[in-house]
Order: sequence, then structure tokens, then C-alpha cells
Amino acid sequence: MNPNFARIVLRNLVRQQNRALCNYSNAYFSLPSLRSSEIVSSRQPSCFAFAISSWNRSLSSAPATETKPESKDEKEISVSDDRKRDLDKVPQSGIMTSSYWGIERPKLTREDGTEWPWNCFMPWETYKSDVSIDLSKHHVPKTFLDKVAYRTVKLLRIPTDIFFQRRYGCRAMMLETVAAVPGMVAGMLLHLKSLRKFQQSGGWIKALLEEAENERMHLMTMIEIVKPKWYERLLVLTVQGVFFNAYFILYLLSPKLAHRVVGYLEEEAIHSYTEFLKDIESGAIENIPAPAIAIDYWRLPKDATLKDVVVVVGADEAHHRDVNHFASDIHFQGKELKEAPAPIGYH
Ligand SMILES: [Fe+2]
Ligand SMILES: [Fe+2]
Repeated sequence: MNPNFARIVLRNLVRQQNRALCNYSNAYFSLPSLRSSEIVSSRQPSCFAFAISSWNRSLSSAPATETKPESKDEKEISVSDDRKRDLDKVPQSGIMTSSYWGIERPKLTREDGTEWPWNCFMPWETYKSDVSIDLSKHHVPKTFLDKVAYRTVKLLRIPTDIFFQRRYGCRAMMLETVAAVPGMVAGMLLHLKSLRKFQQSGGWIKALLEEAENERMHLMTMIEIVKPKWYERLLVLTVQGVFFNAYFILYLLSPKLAHRVVGYLEEEAIHSYTEFLKDIESGAIENIPAPAIAIDYWRLPKDATLKDVVVVVGADEAHHRDVNHFASDIHFQGKELKEAPAPIGYH
């Protein structure tokens, strides 16, 4: 075939295809649906302009009511009654109210009948802390791994003492960003193990995730009391990056050592909160009113103070201490966690 003839045939084929694409775009994206800023200067909009306008439309958060359908086909598109009700809720500002497809949250109230203000936790997740728990209990390190865990935690305390000294609010904030990691890592790994081996976990996944959530609520409370500075936030980022990965690897290698480390970390947390309490009682730290989130989460009296919060958080830490030493003991006996019922439902 003559190469010039072949080139002409090919060019005509490409032109025909472009024209067909433009016609399809004209039919699918009608011109009135474009916003004025999207209308290009040429009288005949190009395929490129239509493609851009359609992409803009798909990204736009503007409500569907903004565009009035003009063609008969568009008017015939039916909208279900539920969806119509949703569209009716669109405020004049154009911001769509989240409605989870028309399902509204049931009205929740506190015990005194006032409206429940929190979305981050529900009334059935709140509890009264068991403050009778023994705070002074200590697991005496006997085995080699126990001693490794104990010394590791004592070593980690040195930079913490130097950096925070007696600023117990900031210290607690930092501590909680770390303390909420092990439960999540261990719970996640047990979850994957349960899926992988088609085995029940004995409730340990739930128990460890409950611990992580409880620690995170400690942090949400502390953040209401302490406003961290930029370098403290940077420290949190760094420590989380290192600690998450280190604990993940440690748990894969030796869950008994990992749980023992957490048991001793919790003992240190109890010590920190006990010192925090002493400073409140001595007047070195002002006993300010308890944050609203703490009053609802621990079902504290309305006139509760920071001292009450520190007492219940310390009791939680004692519970975590016992759970993690227990988990480590199960492993030390050569058993798996699922063989002993998990202490769930405490938090
Ligand atoms: Fe905590
Ligand atoms: Fe804890």
C-alpha cells in the first residue's frame, strides 16, 4: 500500500472517532449543566472542555438541587422517597447534612435525662472505676526475660524523668500516647492469628483492644488539661514511630516479653499518677474542675476535680498492669492466651 494513502486513511479515521466522541459528550453532559466559569470561549466546546467539566462535576460537593434538569430524559429520572427526604434536608448553604442514608442516631441521654453530647463514646461504654484495686502490687522479676523487661522500662524512665521532671500533666500526656499502642498492636496481631489459624482468641482480642481504647480515652482527657507545645508534639510523633515498630517486632518475637514490658510500663504509669496526685494534694498543681469528657466517661460527679480524674486513671493503669502480667504469665507457662479466659468488660 502507498504510504501516503495509508496516512490519509488513518488521519480520517482518527477525525471520525473524535467527532463521535464529541457527539457522545454533548449528549451525555448537557451544556446548561455547566457552571458559567466552565464555559469556554469558543462557540463549540471541545471534547477536552467537556471532559474537564464532567470531572469537576464529579468532584464538586454542591448539592444536586443546584442543577435544574432541562431535557425530558433528565426529568424522567426518578428519585426514591427516602432520597427525596435526604435532599430536603440540604440546607440553603449548600452543605449536605450527614444522615447515613436516612438512618438517624437514636436520641441518647445521660442518667439525669440530659442529652448525650459525645460521638466518640457511647453511654454503655462508660463505667465506674474500681478504685479499690491495689496500686502497690509489683511483679518481682525472677526469670532472665523478666529482668530484661524490668531493666528496659527502668532505662526508658531516665530520659522521661530528665525531660518532664515534675510536670506531671505533660508527662501523663506523653505516657498515654505510648500506652495506647501495645493493646492495639497485640490485639491486631491476635486478630490476624485468629483469621489465619481459624481459631477463637479466648476474648483476648477484645480485652487488648479495650485496653487500647481506654488508654486513648486517658489521652483525650489529658489533652483537655494540658496543651502540648510544638516540640512535645514532635516528640510524640518520633516516639510513636519508633515505639509502634519496636513493639510490633517484639510481639512477633516474644509475646511473653512484650506483655511483661507493658506490665512494668503500667507500674511506672501508676507511679507517675501517684506522684501527680501528691502534687495536687500539696497544692503544687492546681486542682481544677474535671473535664466534661472525664465526668461522662468515668461517671464522676458533676463537681469532680482533676484529683478525682487522676485517681480513676491510676486505677485503670493498675488494671492494665494486672492484665499484662497475667498475659505474660500464661505464656511463661508454655500456654497460649486463648487457653485462659480474658478479663474482658472491665473497661
Ligand atoms: Fe493510661
Ligand atoms: Fe495503662
